Amino acid sequence: MDILNNNSPIGFFDSGVGGLTVLNKVKKILPDESFIFYGDTLHVPYGDKTKEQLLLYSKDILSFFERKGCKAVVMACNTTSSVIYDDIKDKFPFVLYPVVQSVARILSSLSVERLGVFATKATIESGAYQKEISKYNKQMQVFGQFCPNWVYFVEKNIVNEKSSIEVIKSDLDKMLLNHPQKIVLGCTHYPFLKNVLSSLYSEIEYIDPAIYLADYIKNDLAEKNLLHDKDTNRYEEFYVSSNPKQFKESSKMFYDLTKEPELLVF
Ligand code: DGL
Repeated sequence: MDILNNNSPIGFFDSGVGGLTVLNKVKKILPDESFIFYGDTLHVPYGDKTKEQLLLYSKDILSFFERKGCKAVVMACNTTSSVIYDDIKDKFPFVLYPVVQSVARILSSLSVERLGVFATKATIESGAYQKEISKYNKQMQVFGQFCPNWVYFVEKNIVNEKSSIEVIKSDLDKMLLNHPQKIVLGCTHYPFLKNVLSSLYSEIEYIDPAIYLADYIKNDLAEKNLLHDKDTNRYEEFYVSSNPKQFKESSKMFYDLTKEPELLVF
């Protein structure tokens, strides 16, 4: 199979439903593309995993995308982008788009001096947002904070419950002590919490980096002559490594899955 054929699909992967927020944005500006999505729900949350574990899972998933003939793969997951991208970036034949590295330049050009980043423990401990942004802007101060329960709230679809909101408020209050001027939602699950965050504190912009990532991918595919032809058959496939029913349920607000994803364990 010719992997760099412009009508080949684009792969997406994440630890769970969070990646759908990224797929949504990319699909909006690249409606002619075919997509294959893999949610590693068996191993969610990625934010607590070791580098060795993340490497193992990612290699299996990327090999699957290679077998599927993907021309490009979006590493929608901030955690894998932060922790293992450098170790695997040259090992596959498709174009790989890691979210953190792909959006760092545009984040660095935002007119703020103090930028907050909410992300998983692994992403924050890697310092990837600080490191990538400082390649383009050494003046910007980046304040990272991890939010241990947020992924769980989203996967279980309990974001709007009183007890969840109390936890979210306490994490937000901690972040606000840094006086950030904007806050990046540096985990694909967190855009599901945007309404709750805005209702708790509306005087700040919560940035979903997927918007910048989508633009980046479009421009890069165009430059490489890899955009899908218009009016040719496109398709979408969805896979998860456990509990397809829960995945369909939790994704409701963000993506119109016509049927349950297929169960696929490596
Ligand atoms: N959604 C992923 C991210 O962007 C990982 C969340 C998790 O599974 O802990 O970092």
